[in-house]
Amino acid sequence: MTSSTSASRLAVVTGGIGGIGTEICMRLADAGRRVIAVDLATRGERIEAFREQVAAYGSAIRFEPCDVSDFKACGGLIDHVERNIGAVDILVNAAGITRDTSLRKMDPQHWHDLMRVNLDGVFNTCRHVIEGMTSRHFGRIVNLSSVNGQTGQFGQTNYSAAKAGVHGFSMALAREAARKGVTVNTVSPGYCDTPMVAAVPQEIRQQIIADIPVGRLGMPADIARAVVFLTADDASYITGANLPVNGGYFMSF
Ligand code: CAA
Repeated sequence: MTSSTSASRLAVVTGGIGGIGTEICMRLADAGRRVIAVDLATRGERIEAFREQVAAYGSAIRFEPCDVSDFKACGGLIDHVERNIGAVDILVNAAGITRDTSLRKMDPQHWHDLMRVNLDGVFNTCRHVIEGMTSRHFGRIVNLSSVNGQTGQFGQTNYSAAKAGVHGFSMALAREAARKGVTVNTVSPGYCDTPMVAAVPQEIRQQIIADIPVGRLGMPADIARAVVFLTADDASYITGANLPVNGGYFMSF
C-alpha cells in the first residue's frame, strides 16, 4: 500500500478517547489528517461522549476498539486499518494508566498492569506499523512519556519506570528508522487538566500546581500542539528528541 498524500495522511492515536488523546485526534484532524482513535471497547459511555465530541469531523475521525496491551490485537487493528482505510503514516501512543502507590505497598499486579499498557503498548503498536512506514519511506511516531519519567514521583515507581522506558524506546527506534524517512519522538507532558491528574489527592495536586512556573495545569491542547508539530511532514529532521510540555515544572538541557 502506498503512503497517502500529505493532506490526507492517516494517523492512529492510542488512548484516543482519553483526556489528552481526544484533543490530539481533533488537532490532527484540524491539520488535515484522517484520524483513527483507538481505545478499549469497554469504555462504553466514554465512547459515546467521544462520538458526540467529534461528530462535526464526520469520517475524518473514527473510533476503532483495541487493547494496546494485547500484541495480537494490535496486529489485527493495524491490518484492519491498512486493508480497509489506508496506510498508517502517523502513530501517536497516548494510551496510559496510573497505579499510584508507594513501592512498599505495590503488588505485582500494580506493576504488571501498568507496564502492559504504558510500555508494552508502545512496543505492540510500533512493532506493527514500522515495517509499512519504513517500506513507504514515510512515518511519524510520537510516544507520550511524562515529566514523572524524567524526575521520578513519589508513589510512581511503576509509572516513572515505564515513562522513562518510553523515551529509551523512542531513541532506539529513531536510530533504526532514521534512514527510512520515519521519525520517532517523545512528548513528555507535565501535570495536565485531565481525569488522571484530577485523581491525585487534592492537597498534593495543589502543591504541584503551586510549583509549576507557568502557574497552571497544562491543557490537553498544549500537548496536542506539540504532537501536531512533531508529526508535520516537514518535521523530518527532528528525531529521537524528547519535547517536554510541562509549564516549566522540570527544566533540563
Ligand atoms: N513526598 C514525600 N512524602 C510523601 C509524599 C510525597 N509526595 N506523599 C506521601 N508522602 C508521605 C506521607 O506523608 C506519609 O508519611 P507518614 O508515613 O510519615 O505518615 C507516607 O509518605 C505515606 O506513604 P505510603 O507508603 O502510605 O504512601 P501511599 O501508598 O499512601 O501513597 C500516594 C501515597 C497515593 C502515592 C500519594 O503520595 C500520591 O498520590 N502522590 C501523588 C502521585 C502523583 O503525583 N501521581 C501523578 C498522577 S498523574 C500522572 O501521572 C500524569 C503525568 O504524567 C504527570
